[in-house]
Amino acid sequence: MNIARKEKKYLVNVYKKVPLTVYRAVGKYVFGDNGRRHLDFFSGLSVSNFGHAHPKIVSAIKSQAAKYLHVSNLYHTAPQAALSERLSNMAFPGKVFFSNSGAEANECAIKLARKWGSPSGKYEIITFRNSFHGRTIATIAATAQTKFQKGFGPLPIGFKYALFNDISSVKKLVSRKTAAIMVEPVQGEGGVIPSTEKFLKGLAQICRGKKILLIFDEIQTGMGRCGAAFAFQTYGVRPDILTLAKALGGGLPLGATLVSEKLAGVLAPGDHGSTFGGNPVSCAASLAVMELLDTKTLSHARSVGKYFFLRLEVLKKKHPSLIKEVRGLGLMVGAELFRPGGDIVAECLKRGLLINCTQDKVLRFLPPLIVERRDIDEAVSILDEVLTLSQWTSTKI
Ligand SMILES: Cc1ncc(COP(=O)(O)O)c(C=O)c1O
Repeated sequence: MNIARKEKKYLVNVYKKVPLTVYRAVGKYVFGDNGRRHLDFFSGLSVSNFGHAHPKIVSAIKSQAAKYLHVSNLYHTAPQAALSERLSNMAFPGKVFFSNSGAEANECAIKLARKWGSPSGKYEIITFRNSFHGRTIATIAATAQTKFQKGFGPLPIGFKYALFNDISSVKKLVSRKTAAIMVEPVQGEGGVIPSTEKFLKGLAQICRGKKILLIFDEIQTGMGRCGAAFAFQTYGVRPDILTLAKALGGGLPLGATLVSEKLAGVLAPGDHGSTFGGNPVSCAASLAVMELLDTKTLSHARSVGKYFFLRLEVLKKKHPSLIKEVRGLGLMVGAELFRPGGDIVAECLKRGLLINCTQDKVLRFLPPLIVERRDIDEAVSILDEVLTLSQWTSTKI
């Protein structure tokens, strides 16, 4: 039985898989089992930010694996110690809880906010329409999109949904019960929608004034994706809690919840935990990632991101009936279409380009930070070829 058919038979069917069986992935390329090369502008959903099988990450994994794979969080381990110090130095002074995924990183942030608020009766968390915070029961309650919640109720209470980039809608929901506001600096799954600086600064002001915690979910925007180590640095707004995952582990599962010093004592021994959280091999991989996340790479990401944006703007002018808007930050880029994008993604795949579509109509591009202008030219030319196909004309607005 071939791989795709076996998966169909034995895997719970929760993913809409595309017809590509991966044989190998190196640098910017993913190779199919038919030997076909694909330029990867998806990076495993913003995980492989430094390309696939980066030699420094692979070598860090090998060397830690040869020492020990797992010993438990009851013992002191060098990779966790070094990585927590590194994160605190890079983002802001504080303490880290390590987990295995984005949803868990947010779950920890939610629990911490509730524990912090409980003496004063605060437990509500304000999140935003079209947000995405994970797939656990609490994080789908935080995710203000009914498509992820339908059929899974009753959900935990205490989540209120405001409009993204609309500060007045937040003010209307703030009450004595509000413990935290949780936001993605750029909504990813929600359609690649950057916050305005005014909005994030407005949230910070509300939080300061009303003694509310500000949580930034940087699971997708962090680790250089938006042209800074963390997107909050671009906006000049520092959260009280920062959640990270995806590219943090360089391809291995790792989540982190960084809490500012004033919150460092909120969770006490026994309050929270994870068997695998902060696995030594994942932390070693992450330390290699941190080395790669230098100022030169970030400035490269910003400059190629700008170039990509401009090339897509030109494409929009050429296909005004198909592309509605180009937007993004750094190398987190989206092109909203006037029509569904699923079949456009499929045509790109046939031509050797991996991209994704979210919210039905938004093409999402998440190339690795090491992408060069010539790769962007190649991707844009494939997209141009696809958008030029005559079949789309019948559905244009
Ligand atoms: C902003 C954001 N938060 C949370 C998550 C959940 O992360 P995970 O799938 O690792 O649980 C994602 C995943 O796409 C995300 O983009």
